[in-house]
Amino acid sequence: MERIGFIGLGTMGQVMAQRLMAAGYPLSVWNRTRDKAEPLIQAGAKWAASAREAANASDIVITMVTDSAASEAVICGPDGVLAGAHPGLTLIDSGSIEPEMSYSIAERAKAKGVAMLDAPVSGGPKVAAEGRLGIMVGGPQETFQACEPLLKQLGSMVLYVGGNGKGTTVKLIANLIMGVAIQAAAESLVLAAKAGIDPQVIIDITSLPGTGPQTGAMATRGPRMMQHNFYPPHFSTDNMHKDLSGALRLAEKFGVSLPTASAAREMLRAVKSQGNGRIDSSAVVTVLEAMANTTIGSQPGSV
Ligand SMILES: NC(=O)c1ccc[n+]([C@@H]2O[C@H](COP(=O)([O-])OP(=O)(O)OC[C@H]3O[C@@H](n4cnc5c(N)ncnc54)[C@H](OP(=O)(O)O)[C@@H]3O)[C@@H](O)[C@H]2O)c1
Repeated sequence: MERIGFIGLGTMGQVMAQRLMAAGYPLSVWNRTRDKAEPLIQAGAKWAASAREAANASDIVITMVTDSAASEAVICGPDGVLAGAHPGLTLIDSGSIEPEMSYSIAERAKAKGVAMLDAPVSGGPKVAAEGRLGIMVGGPQETFQACEPLLKQLGSMVLYVGGNGKGTTVKLIANLIMGVAIQAAAESLVLAAKAGIDPQVIIDITSLPGTGPQTGAMATRGPRMMQHNFYPPHFSTDNMHKDLSGALRLAEKFGVSLPTASAAREMLRAVKSQGNGRIDSSAVVTVLEAMANTTIGSQPGSV
């Protein structure tokens, strides 16, 4: 089995790395904050002193960090993956980053003889733990084919979508739906409260499989909104704001108008400007509650 280097052990990386270990892949791990690596080290992963060292000890390196700047730092920085490149090394960047940055990193990797895939994922930590992620992959097709068995340990749908940068493009477009759907779920719960309807009734009635209003956004975020349970985040406000901003930049580039995505991004900006970027993006409900002068659920204000 290929030796895997795993860089970035946050909410998603932690679970994805655990899954690869459980499948028997030998793992070297690095995270900026070492503490987060402890559970994996306890389970038998090797600690690498840097991303560079992890690359040196691996056949395939997976990076799963926050955004474009973070991916560039851990891959292209002085102690990054490319500094530890060796012949035959493959790089898979799974962060949801800007397509232009992903393409640029792939070019820099190619110059070092490293083939790169952009392979961002859909689905949260629970889905990742069950190996049911959606994975959209850009990069050289032969590299995709070589890495497909590994990616299938993490995802139940692994789609090749084109050259470098295409995986991250698909991710931004797909996640736009989630960003808007969370906002729509929050709006319906606040309206229910104002109209004298128990918001739980809305969660229940929209949970029926196959009906039009049914959405994963309500199923996963509705209960959090009711409980004001925003930490630890399922998907942070900062990250959702980043993804909608990426989708809006893409729309700007192609001259496409995205009115509801723009509105959803503004609500996330409001949560961020209250100093709450690190809590779950379902906290947009608190801004709506303030706007409507109401509260939903049983624990208002317990952020
Ligand atoms: N959470 C989800 O449900 C979900 C679902 C699909 C896709 N995604 C995407 O997956 C990626 C990771 O998300 P996440 O939820 O796992 O985020 P997270 O919990 O915030 O973890 C972020 C990771 O990036 C590292 N990092 C950030 N900036 C860095 C830098 N400059 N240098 C080195 N490391 C850095 C963090 O290190 P520290 O531990 O030191 O802070 C941490 O390991 C994001 O692009 C996100 O949009 C997330």
